Amino acid sequence: MPRRGGVSGPFRRHVSPVSPLSVSPLPHGRSDDALDPAAMRQPLPDAWYCVGQSAALRGGGGKAMRAVSLNGEQIVIGRGPNGAPFALRDRCPHRGMALSKGRFDGQTLMCPFHGWRFGTDGHCREVPTLSTHDAADFSRIAVQRFPVRESAGFVWVNPTPQASGAAPALPELDFEPAGSLVVELEVEASFDLTTLSLVDPGHVAFVHDSWWFRPSKELREKVKTFQPVEHGFVMTSHATTKSSPVYRLLGGVPEVEIEFRLPGVRLERIRAGLKRVANYTFATPLSENRTMLTNALYWSMPALNLLKPIARPLMRQFLTQDQQVLQHAQAGLDRKPTMVLLGDGDLPSQWYFRLKREALEAARAGRAFVNPLERRVLRWRS
Ligand code: FES
Ligand SMILES: [Fe+2]
Repeated sequence: MPRRGGVSGPFRRHVSPVSPLSVSPLPHGRSDDALDPAAMRQPLPDAWYCVGQSAALRGGGGKAMRAVSLNGEQIVIGRGPNGAPFALRDRCPHRGMALSKGRFDGQTLMCPFHGWRFGTDGHCREVPTLSTHDAADFSRIAVQRFPVRESAGFVWVNPTPQASGAAPALPELDFEPAGSLVVELEVEASFDLTTLSLVDPGHVAFVHDSWWFRPSKELREKVKTFQPVEHGFVMTSHATTKSSPVYRLLGGVPEVEIEFRLPGVRLERIRAGLKRVANYTFATPLSENRTMLTNALYWSMPALNLLKPIARPLMRQFLTQDQQVLQHAQAGLDRKPTMVLLGDGDLPSQWYFRLKREALEAARAGRAFVNPLERRVLRWRS
């Protein structure tokens, strides 16, 4: 039960002083420091998580399988006979063998231990060791199936088998990319801590200080407007000519829109005339203290394909910068699991927790999600 006041849950909050420009971040009489510790520490159960690129399931003549981790669950993904993806618990009901270690012929997965076969719907189709005189019935045996979808070139799994349909929408790409670049990096940190880095403007100047991303070392005053959107919030701005060389590459003054969406999705959309670039980042909980960060850059201009060999190591460097600080911060949080969230720059981090709590409360009450955020101007230096 949420409690009012005091310190509870994993994080201690310090709500920022209210500046004359801004609206109070919390409705009166409601404290944001009361969290249900058990549920709030977990990634959202009914949500779509990125488990890898769609391209990984191509090839192999439709017989490709991949073992993936999602929130402590081992899952095997592949494509069924109709080309649609499937996701099954990677565990043979017989003696627990990983089905991903076996073979997939495009129709059924065969366990390598005793040869049981399962359809891509999870149902047991054959137990080859049974004698024809054996009355044992395998028709009721099934492997757990998980909801799975494809969007923006990725495969997404919902770890809740009976998903309600109320999960936040999948990230989509609203233009036809001429090229794309994907970098994945595993971070030894919790899902929450990693996801906070997607909405944390304060770390950029200190962590991402590479010349190509942030040539000026000075902290500058930022004033940005944030609006609530479905399951998240969005910041819209016009980049200035002093912006990073990455933006300048597009020519003109690009319009930049950065959306955060539950469960851990950051969608940066850049528009300069007809030119389009999208930089999407997804956090996926692998286990309690391991999180996958996936960064996908898409562009509409074929000429940018030439820059791919240069861009890949830069993108990896960028993600590695996050990985390193997150791992050190996690070690500190392991010793003492509290945070002090202070000032406007930390409000998006508080919003993350508010959105997550609302999603949990809405699911528990069986009602629709109501975004608890309001339009707000934030000021910080970065
Ligand atoms: S463990 Fe899978 S068939 Fe025996
Ligand atoms: Fe970062």
